[in-house]
Amino acid sequence: MTRRIETAILISGRGSNMAALIEAARAPDYPAHIGLVISDRADAGGLALAREAGVEALAIDAKAAGGRTAFEAALDAALLARKIELICLAGFMRILSPAFVGRWPALNIHPSLLPAYKGLDTHARALADGVSEHGCTVHWVSPELDSGEIVAQARVPVMTGDDPDRLAARVLVAEHALYRSALAQVGRRLLAGG
Ligand code: GAR
Repeated sequence: MTRRIETAILISGRGSNMAALIEAARAPDYPAHIGLVISDRADAGGLALAREAGVEALAIDAKAAGGRTAFEAALDAALLARKIELICLAGFMRILSPAFVGRWPALNIHPSLLPAYKGLDTHARALADGVSEHGCTVHWVSPELDSGEIVAQARVPVMTGDDPDRLAARVLVAEHALYRSALAQVGRRLLAGG
């Protein structure tokens, strides 16, 4: 069997980007295998979606774990047990410690054309600025929020009459395609030893 990069996806919510990656990884020549989904919230809709798709899905609640250090130790244990090589953050809304980020290579998808609009409420802020173009970015996770090396970006036009929800829906479609191709690109590079 062809070797693939063993990948875990971390989510906090509905998991549409997660579902797009799981779907992409069904292709026999896709270079990543999605072996695990973890949510920091037990009520994340994405957990059920992952299980329906046949992917193991765990909830690890940070408060129940006893704070960030204990939460990240629980993440470490789950990731090590499944021999995970790469993490994809997909709507994971918790900030990871520099120590954790130093231990695990991780990609993130962010709903803006970074370095513009780091943080939350990206669509409302872009609309308030009157930009004509918005989009999404896949980047490597670094200790500073939304600031790691950019892997790929997709541009999305802002249309007359857009509100944050309409714009977010248009960007989300672009996110799904971008994340699938960015993970394929990174997975091939890792398999080649780069
Ligand atoms: C996506 O738009 C993602 O880019 C964003 O949350 C949404 C999750 O949707 N992530 C962030 O804002 C990270 N700071 P999903 O659960 O359907 O993939």
